[in-house]
Amino acid sequence: MVKKAVIPAAGLGTRFLPATKASPKEMLPIIDTPTIQYVVQEAVDSGIEDILIISGRGKRAIEDHFDRNYELEERIKGKEDMMYDEIRNLTNLANIHFIRQKDINGLGDAIYYARQHTGNEPFAVLLGDTIIDSVIPVTQQLMDIHEQYQSTVIAVETVPRDKVSRYGIVGGDALSEKLMRLNQLIEKPSVETAPSNLAIAGRYILTPGIYKALEKTPKGKGNELQLTDAMIELLKRESIYSQTFDGKRYDIGNKLDFIKTTIEYAVKRKEFSSKVIAFMKEIIAEHGEQNTVRYHKV
Ligand code: UTP
Repeated sequence: MVKKAVIPAAGLGTRFLPATKASPKEMLPIIDTPTIQYVVQEAVDSGIEDILIISGRGKRAIEDHFDRNYELEERIKGKEDMMYDEIRNLTNLANIHFIRQKDINGLGDAIYYARQHTGNEPFAVLLGDTIIDSVIPVTQQLMDIHEQYQSTVIAVETVPRDKVSRYGIVGGDALSEKLMRLNQLIEKPSVETAPSNLAIAGRYILTPGIYKALEKTPKGKGNELQLTDAMIELLKRESIYSQTFDGKRYDIGNKLDFIKTTIEYAVKRKEFSSKVIAFMKEIIAEHGEQNTVRYHKV
């Protein structure tokens, strides 16, 4: 049974500079909630009570966010609109542990830091910069498959064929409409060589076998230890399944997706919905077609 989750959140966030020079990208808020809080909530909603966050230099704010802040609590206590209960609850969501990735050597290296914590058990991995909105938490969806097959399970999503070269792509035998037993994993294939248009989407259940696979995996793209490369190694020894999840993925690690996520979440929030839609109409009326927009240097 999967009891623990690992959330890698040590990355440098180079695609989101300058904001990420001194602040963790995982703390970038969608409206008023840091991205990593949505991620922790998904793990908790999936029944996980033990979470290890892989942290690094400049990531203190993440630890503080899930810790008590007595002065703040005192100030907002008893004030109805001040979210006292939500703030207090943040420290009780789960047993949250932290470990620091010493050098930022890639996602595979980050996961390797979890080996003592997860030991001989399977564990969930949720990328700290990726929110997935779904009725059933995606980690729960993967745990259900893991329960059945006792193997590594990767969440995948359909991407446009001409965009496969941006993603890790899986290939294999379909066991049902959404479930596949993998025989291929390829990082950023060309359109011609891609075995499918199913892309790895930032949620996994990994067996402890991943650690041995990571040890055998040489550094890959960007001279970093890549998790996809280690899963290719793992596939030589163990079955791996992919599940096309039900839900919508938001990668806040790139600026355009962050903007889109913010707008979509604002539209979904009752208190902002109509005002944001009215504002967007105003903006469209003001700027019209792309070629009439006046760009600002900020
Ligand atoms: P990304 O590759 O999206 O994050 O990793 P990044 O490296 O910070 O991004 P850019 O490309 O420089 O903008 C996905 C998740 O894995 C974590 C990141 O923090 C992010 O949440 N990660 C990545 C680590 O914990 N350690 C690493 O060495 C790399």
